[in-house]
Amino acid sequence: MISTPTYTLDDGTTVPALGLGTWPMDDAEAERAVGTALELGYRLVDTATNYRNETGVGRGVAASGIPREEVVVTTKLPGRHHGHAETLASFEESRARLGLEYVDLYLIHWPLPRLDRYVDSWRAMIELRERGLVRSIGVSNFTADHIRRLERETGVLPSVNQIELHPLFPQADLRAFHESKGIRTESWSPLGRGSEVLTDPAVVAVAEALGVTPAQAVLRWHTQLGALPIPKSGHPERLRENLDVFGFTLDPAQMAAVTDRPQRRLGGDPEVHEEF
Ligand SMILES: NC(=O)c1ccc[n+]([C@@H]2O[C@H](COP(=O)([O-])OP(=O)(O)OC[C@H]3O[C@@H](n4cnc5c(N)ncnc54)[C@H](OP(=O)(O)O)[C@@H]3O)[C@@H](O)[C@H]2O)c1
Repeated sequence: MISTPTYTLDDGTTVPALGLGTWPMDDAEAERAVGTALELGYRLVDTATNYRNETGVGRGVAASGIPREEVVVTTKLPGRHHGHAETLASFEESRARLGLEYVDLYLIHWPLPRLDRYVDSWRAMIELRERGLVRSIGVSNFTADHIRRLERETGVLPSVNQIELHPLFPQADLRAFHESKGIRTESWSPLGRGSEVLTDPAVVAVAEALGVTPAQAVLRWHTQLGALPIPKSGHPERLRENLDVFGFTLDPAQMAAVTDRPQRRLGGDPEVHEEF
């Protein structure tokens, strides 16, 4: 079994430095992948109401036999449930589907600035944490301005911001902002989601020099940035490969080579993306 280093969040909880993504798995796939991943040593699983696989994730965690307190289960509030009462109700539905007494990390999935209800949701999430139903609260796809507004209006910063982050979109400014506020960056689509990232000649060259696979080089790059990548795979051999990234180090030139290319997003722009 591979053991991962951990990060301590600003609220004092600890989380593994790498986890498992589960989109777009269905319940059956998620249950299988979570079971395999936990056996291999993964201790953080990422799901969301909108992935429609919380039931499978919960079953995978329960069947693993691993003590509950050793697994970090993350889920996310969908856009259609923004608002104070709606967030509390949505959380209860997620908790029931997951079959858990508490959720470790609860995130607002997208800010939906046009709807302008994310501050109401944030207040509800603060309450959920105070009631012990959620260990840590955070956001996803928030810009620095969205986070500054949460801080201004509630005095509470998110512990985590889960953002699109990979070699094509390294997000240096937002990462620096997170660091200045003590917010942990979590990387979604960390491998570039089937794009050219894993066949890029510079990434392949770094991987070959280190004697690892391109996916391993990229995931190690994330962790050396201080980010927490959540690669998705349903294949046992890839799950193992993706976790086994802590026994080598990219030097500064290799870190730079991984991102030395024009930048582009693969997903939505948080200022305008609407997902309900
Ligand atoms: N907060 C958000 O808005 C948001 C948005 C997108 C994603 N996410 C989260 O982030 C997770 C990861 O993002 P993602 O799934 O978009 O992209 P990703 O993890 O960057 O890439 C997943 C793709 O890479 C393949 N893959 C995995 N390991 C590999 C390896 N070692 N070698 C070669 N290919 C490999 C997978 O195929 P196989 O499965 O066939 O192995 C899959 O096609 C999601 O599952 C989800 O939990 C969050």
